[in-house]
Amino acid sequence: MATDFKQSPGASTAGVTATVKKQYELLPYPHRDPERELENLRYSNLDEIAGINHKCFRGRLDLSKPARILVAGGGTGDSTVFLAEQLRDFPAEILHVDLSERSMDIARRRIEKRGLEGKVEWRQGSLLDLTPSNAGYFDYINCSGVLHHLEDPAAGLAALNSVLKPDGAMGLMVYGKYGRTAIYQLQRLLELAGLKGAEPSKELLQELRRLLDKLPATNWQHHGQKLMAFMENADDSELYDLLLHTCDRAYSVTELVDLLATSKLHLLEFTSESRFFYQAEQIFRDSPWWPEISQKPLAEQQEMAELYWGCQIKHAFWAAREPDRRVNPTQLNLIPGWSELSRMVNVRESILTNRASVWSLDFQLRAGIQMTINVESPPVVRAFCEMINDELSIADIVNRIKQNPALSEGYSEIDMIPLLLQAIRNLSDHDLLFLRHPDTVSIRR
Ligand SMILES: C[S@@+](CC[C@H](N)C(=O)[O-])C[C@H]1O[C@@H](n2cnc3c(N)ncnc32)[C@H](O)[C@@H]1O
Repeated sequence: MATDFKQSPGASTAGVTATVKKQYELLPYPHRDPERELENLRYSNLDEIAGINHKCFRGRLDLSKPARILVAGGGTGDSTVFLAEQLRDFPAEILHVDLSERSMDIARRRIEKRGLEGKVEWRQGSLLDLTPSNAGYFDYINCSGVLHHLEDPAAGLAALNSVLKPDGAMGLMVYGKYGRTAIYQLQRLLELAGLKGAEPSKELLQELRRLLDKLPATNWQHHGQKLMAFMENADDSELYDLLLHTCDRAYSVTELVDLLATSKLHLLEFTSESRFFYQAEQIFRDSPWWPEISQKPLAEQQEMAELYWGCQIKHAFWAAREPDRRVNPTQLNLIPGWSELSRMVNVRESILTNRASVWSLDFQLRAGIQMTINVESPPVVRAFCEMINDELSIADIVNRIKQNPALSEGYSEIDMIPLLLQAIRNLSDHDLLFLRHPDTVSIRR
């Protein structure tokens, strides 16, 4: 049962919120068919719990104790489903909040299809109305693609922050300013045509598609291949959301950090699929400007990279009250486990069969841009990787290697450990491997 929890009737549903609610009642976002729910589990790298634990909880998120998760503006349920599936066997609970009843109904039916109804509580209403007294406190808050649709995003963030536990973390996504340049040009064109916020009828969406189909090669839209591809494949809810939203703003990294500061929050890390595009060092390290650029605040360096690449249409990242909540990867009692991403690209098998002294993995990012991950991988590193199972600690694995001369190949413990720690750092920097503290339970089923 969905419970309505508006505290101040009319306050948060007025104005922009009412218009936004109407849009998502007419066009639940993203379009999902609950009948096809069991065909696949949609992965969200913002919400992989082993990764959140590594990046935001110093590896100490212990799921044997009841954890509380909030999905704010959860829409049709992608994050709620992915989180609930991972938490199936743990005493954790999820609160899914959304303005749109129809969107939430789709999310609920997806959860029911998976037999996970006991895991999720549903509330229809505005995240602006969340308070500790009506919602309690949460360990992790997901709010993806929502804050930038609020009239006052800082107020939305403050409401979320008010229900975050002191050592909790948030997984957020807001629009990227420069990467959406073409979108804002089209939005302006449509606004001038009198279409902003128009009723999303079949005819309107057809007309929109016709317009996009015949956009000339000179239109700014064609400067960004990813956006154009996204538009070509967009369903109605995505297309409307992109071009006719009545309330939409975007952020540069500097503006994003300023927004977080309004709630005394820090940006911990961007998610892995776009991390590469925030690194000023790889653009400027050979330039005479680098010594000065490298002294600038990190957010400014990241904004420079944002301007250089021009393709960050969104910023997906984790935030918390302390600037660094990562696990300390030099502690040998930590327990390594492979990530979902590493499973998708068969990292373990690839390392085990590699015979070169350096193992490399190429990732095709976008528009032909490639990123290569390199890990020095003498046999001892391969032996280590073979034993990673989310149960043995780094020290356990080192001991097993030491006991087997065929595996240690003459390496002393003193020589072996820096090599292994470097491999762990390289792999975990790219979200291929995560570490957890021995006092926590394994999230793997
Ligand atoms: C673009 S969709 C994103 C849905 C989901 N988070 C995702 O990433 O798939 C935005 C969602 O936020 C909801 N929303 C917008 N403003 C809200 C508010 N003030 N409180 C709660 N939900 C809100 C909308 O109803 C919609 O379902």
